[in-house]
Amino acid sequence: MSKKILDVKHLKKYYPVSKKSFLHAVDDVSFSIFQGEIFGIVGESGSGKSTIGRSILNLIAIDKGEIYWDGTRIDSLDAKGMLEFRKKMQMVFQNPLASFNPKQYIGSAFSELCKFYKISRHEMNEKIIKLLELINLPADVLTRMPSQLSGGQLQRLSIARSLLLEPDFIVADEPVSALDVSVQAQILNLILDLRDKMGLTILFISHDLNVVERICDRVAVMYLGVIVEMAKKEQLFSHTMHPYTHALIEVNPIEHPSLRKDREIIAGDIPSAVDVGEGCRFAGRCQYCKKGLCDCVTPELIEVESGHWVACHCPF
Ligand SMILES: Nc1ncnc2c1ncn2[C@@H]1O[C@H](COP(=O)(O)OP(=O)(O)OP(=O)(O)O)[C@@H](O)[C@H]1O
Ligand SMILES: [Mg+2]
Repeated sequence: MSKKILDVKHLKKYYPVSKKSFLHAVDDVSFSIFQGEIFGIVGESGSGKSTIGRSILNLIAIDKGEIYWDGTRIDSLDAKGMLEFRKKMQMVFQNPLASFNPKQYIGSAFSELCKFYKISRHEMNEKIIKLLELINLPADVLTRMPSQLSGGQLQRLSIARSLLLEPDFIVADEPVSALDVSVQAQILNLILDLRDKMGLTILFISHDLNVVERICDRVAVMYLGVIVEMAKKEQLFSHTMHPYTHALIEVNPIEHPSLRKDREIIAGDIPSAVDVGEGCRFAGRCQYCKKGLCDCVTPELIEVESGHWVACHCPF
């Protein structure tokens, strides 16, 4: 097995909502990612997925916890120290159109980044030609404006730009959510291909279980700021243990109508993460909730079989 390259330990990020109240966006989350792995984080809107991604890249300050890259603690680095790590760690965002300046040629978006990192013009040209080959786009895209390209082409370019500094690690935050299903498949194949060719390690954030199942090696399921289940993809889908993961799989749109069956839906809306107290956060929506236990004792994330972790008092 490859080595652990990213270690997130007891990460907490709270946002103040009033003088005394806090929104628990990420609440004591720990996980590791292995070198060359695609690690997925899946969960409903507001569960804290992007907050984790941004915290790892030091785009937001964390409140508690520790983040290590290859043994070096990176959450407390100063701006200069972080600049070096930024080269190794890049982000791909959901909306490719918003990732580029609408008034700037694509070529300029690439050269600007090279100038910032003091990459020579010669080296830059070589890198860009190589990257365009990798993402399978012709060189003339560099002379176009973002509005003259399709969503799929722009997302390819956004991925290429994130690879310009030859990073080791990419946070891909919903990179295919804004794209048509047919284009999604192309981008997912591209990401898999790049992982193999460049040995990238990827944190892949998504709310779509179909996408996660297609691309990830291991998956963490988040609910209201905490990980409720974490396992190898095959374990998660074939031996689902947490009622929330079950419910997510049940409500997951199935592409072929003949495979659809009567599916139970998760009751109610995702509750507020403000000042959450003791107890399982899913208790109020869980049909297996045991009163006096689930609603007042917080379940710990426990390894119940090799590599399969679950935080539930009554797992399946
Ligand atoms: N800057 C902020 N100030 C206050 N609250 C914030 C801030 N950023 C995020 N939050 C809150 O933190 C929680 C987690 O947000 P986050 O963006 O991590 O969720 P997410 O799982 O990525 O959701 P989505 O699937 O919608 O992108 C949400 O309740 C959100 O409203
Ligand atoms: Mg998000």
